Amino acid sequence: MPSTSPVILILGAGPNVGQHVARAFAAKGYRVALAARRAKEADNTPDEVHIPSDFSDPNSVVDVFSKVKALLGIPSVVVYNASSLTATPPDDPLSLPLTDFTRGTTITTTSAFVAAQQAALGFSQLPDSASRTFIYTGNILNTITLPSFLGLGVGKSGAAHIIQSAAAAYKDRGYKFYYGDERKVDGSAAFKVDGEAHAKLYLELAEGETQRAWQQTFVKDVGYKSFSAV
Ligand SMILES: NC(=O)c1ccc[n+]([C@@H]2O[C@H](COP(=O)([O-])OP(=O)(O)OC[C@H]3O[C@@H](n4cnc5c(N)ncnc54)[C@H](OP(=O)(O)O)[C@@H]3O)[C@@H](O)[C@H]2O)c1
Repeated sequence: MPSTSPVILILGAGPNVGQHVARAFAAKGYRVALAARRAKEADNTPDEVHIPSDFSDPNSVVDVFSKVKALLGIPSVVVYNASSLTATPPDDPLSLPLTDFTRGTTITTTSAFVAAQQAALGFSQLPDSASRTFIYTGNILNTITLPSFLGLGVGKSGAAHIIQSAAAAYKDRGYKFYYGDERKVDGSAAFKVDGEAHAKLYLELAEGETQRAWQQTFVKDVGYKSFSAV
């Protein structure tokens, strides 16, 4: 008989944000699907599945959702945590090779778009009581420019646009879309992110009944904090 426990899917699940989010949701009774290039199916258990996948191909995201549905059921919480960075000299951001620009925006934006699309398709098949929450791990680059990080900034900005648009459009259906962005207490970029702080916020957003601010800037040990004036 299929389990009735809710399912979380984490795309780009590594040892930091991915593992902490997985642990926090498992502790709340979720079954967990973890997708990344180095994920190993041999590690699967009845409550946790590992799906090897590379989001430099957006079609791989569709395959991940099909596998999760078959193995655990439709995810009511989806976290997109993968990104790609090729740094350039700060005085020459346009030296970024086109192949790196394209690969970066595919991983950071296009595959995240497919994930949001697949998540919403799944949410439409879940009852109103299900969480139906999509969270994208972002950073400060949708609000400021850092010349060495042009490609990542384009990617995060595109994803932020998708999240902002979806948060408004699907609010009345009860779906929630968030752009999580950890900051230092003064509002500057965190750079080194805290997995546990992400897990705490992501759980709170998944458990929240209605859409909050789509741009979830937050600070470790503080939680959500708006820096719109920074
Ligand atoms: N707020 C800030 O200031 C700030 C600072 C740093 C990072 N961030 C954001 O935080 C997120 C990552 O945080 P983290 O600490 O959890 O990083 P992490 O531990 O490196 O986890 C990200 C995981 O994504 C997977 N991944 C990368 N490229 C992939 C691809 N092409 N296909 C599938 N999976 C892929 C990697 O696993 P595999 O190698 O196995 O694929 C990696 O373990 C990123 O979105 C990043 O932009 C924000």
